[in-house]
Amino acid sequence: MAITDDIKDRIDIVDLISSYITLNKAGSNYKAVCPFHSEKTPSFIVSPQRQSWRCFGACSTGGDVLSFVMKIENVDFYTSIKQLSQQAGINLNDSVKHQKTDFLYEINEQAALFFQESLNSSSGSLAKNYIDKRDLTEKTISDFRIGFSLPSNNTLLNKLLSSGFDEKQIEQTGLCKIARPGQVTDFFWNRIMFPIENKQGKIVGFGGRCLDDSNPKYLNTPKTEIFDKQSILFGLNKASNSIKDLNCAVIVEGYMDVITAHQNKEKNVIASMGTAITEQQVNSIKRLAKDYILAMDSDTAGQSATLRSLESAWHVLDTQNNLFQNNLLNLGKPPKIKIAALPKGEDPDSLIKNNLSGWKTLIENAMPYKEFIIEIVSEKNDKTTPEGKGQIINALIPTITSSKSSIEQEHYIEILSKKLQVSSDAIRSNIGRASKPFSKNLKRQKKHNNSISLSALKSDPYKTENFIMAILLQFPQSKDQINAPETEIFQKTENREIFTSFLNSNTIEELEIILSPILKEQLNYLLSLKIEPVSEFSAVNTLNQSIAKLEQVHIKNMQRELLSSIEDSSQNPKEIEKVIVDLNQKLKISLNKYNQKTS
Ligand code: GTP
Ligand code: MN
Repeated sequence: MAITDDIKDRIDIVDLISSYITLNKAGSNYKAVCPFHSEKTPSFIVSPQRQSWRCFGACSTGGDVLSFVMKIENVDFYTSIKQLSQQAGINLNDSVKHQKTDFLYEINEQAALFFQESLNSSSGSLAKNYIDKRDLTEKTISDFRIGFSLPSNNTLLNKLLSSGFDEKQIEQTGLCKIARPGQVTDFFWNRIMFPIENKQGKIVGFGGRCLDDSNPKYLNTPKTEIFDKQSILFGLNKASNSIKDLNCAVIVEGYMDVITAHQNKEKNVIASMGTAITEQQVNSIKRLAKDYILAMDSDTAGQSATLRSLESAWHVLDTQNNLFQNNLLNLGKPPKIKIAALPKGEDPDSLIKNNLSGWKTLIENAMPYKEFIIEIVSEKNDKTTPEGKGQIINALIPTITSSKSSIEQEHYIEILSKKLQVSSDAIRSNIGRASKPFSKNLKRQKKHNNSISLSALKSDPYKTENFIMAILLQFPQSKDQINAPETEIFQKTENREIFTSFLNSNTIEELEIILSPILKEQLNYLLSLKIEPVSEFSAVNTLNQSIAKLEQVHIKNMQRELLSSIEDSSQNPKEIEKVIVDLNQKLKISLNKYNQKTS
């Protein structure tokens, strides 16, 4: 649970505010003289149901427990969290990972230095020979901080202990392991060491290669608090500028593939570390470029890894495709996933080394993934019999019809027709038959799409504001084109904070860096929402619509709270009437704004 949610769970807003001012019951709410401006008649209302507070008077502001403390103590977000977590009996240090994990980065950094020293020492000469045999230059060795783990079972451990880290801390980095009860040893032993950096360039783990053909060929840092093979891409920190410049990322499988590519000035190359690329990995690069080329080994293992990765990469990128295809945002062409199939017996490392221009041609001629799927499905099945051909066509219909452009569809139909020696008319009529109920489904789905994202968030009381934030984060460029909302309309302080930081940063990467780690969980939640703005509207329109809606919900909530806090006796109905009329006026303005935008 995020610490902010934990705090809100444990601290009741009525209790909290009562510790500052005297609250009086008023209907289902509580009322007080506003602590933020001077007034005689109370216009400050606290709603226990919504766990919110609001001033209807001069400040006309409101929020949750966090924003109340920020305002009344005049402190920033982080300080309010510190204060409230203390009050709630939550250990802030347990919750704020980054403070807790600093030593993990430090130990990894120290270890990398030690491995580098070891490579250059006399004990590293065999390792040095091996690296030379792999044709890596001194510059590459130092750029990638390649090192060597000595063939002894506790030199690194002793080195780290003497630097002042304790055994428990070292174990948490995965660099040491408990061999037997009471006996801790180094994890890496007699291996070439490749440091693995996160996006910020900090070392989070290592890959270690043995010097011969023994098994396992590679050993990777086990999963730790800062290292998870599933979410890290090797070389991303070094490649990201080039990926942005070229608007293209090339994804390979191995450490050596990336290193040799970079040594040969192919700097947009990154690796998934042997496994099929995961959705998390795609998420971490999907905003960097429009083209993604998967370099695939020609063997079956390589093919199936690529197919598996297409599944995960595919739907994530498709979300963007919808938007790009339908006008929008002037972001240029939709992102493309392509496949570059390597010649038999080669991997990117060997191909780049032996035939750089061959590699370049291969990348230039990479094939759109749909053609690749058509190729594989028709090669793997019987295309000599009519039944076999029918099966292949039926299996490929979803692939072909998922292109919205009919020109694209025609292109794939032509390819398939040539492959199967079946007339394109016959394929078309097969598609027509199969897609009648299918297209109905599609329509229904499309209609649904208008609200698909909202309905997915149905149970969330903050669905509209989360929805707005999710689209904004998915399309950061749209922030300059929307009717910028008052941060006030976000009820959740977390969203206010993320929104403000978002306005102050140029990229999501930057946002992630400047944002308080306390907000990471909410940010990740927002980033994980797969919102598909509808084809009829651009993201900007969707945003303006939702912002207007949130504004209106905000005003209506204010009215409701006001009405539910009326007490029959002690109230001056004239004053409340005036506030309600004012709010009606605001509501009208908001509705007009929205109507103008959409007409
Ligand atoms: P070289 O044989 O040195 O050229 O290695 P490579 O980088 O070309 O690796 P390869 O294509 O054989 O494997 C691709 C990636 O899979 C490697 O970079 C590793 O991340 C991973 N890998 C390979 N072998 C093993 C293994 O035995 N264990 C684990 N955990 N990962 C491996
Ligand atoms: Mn290799």
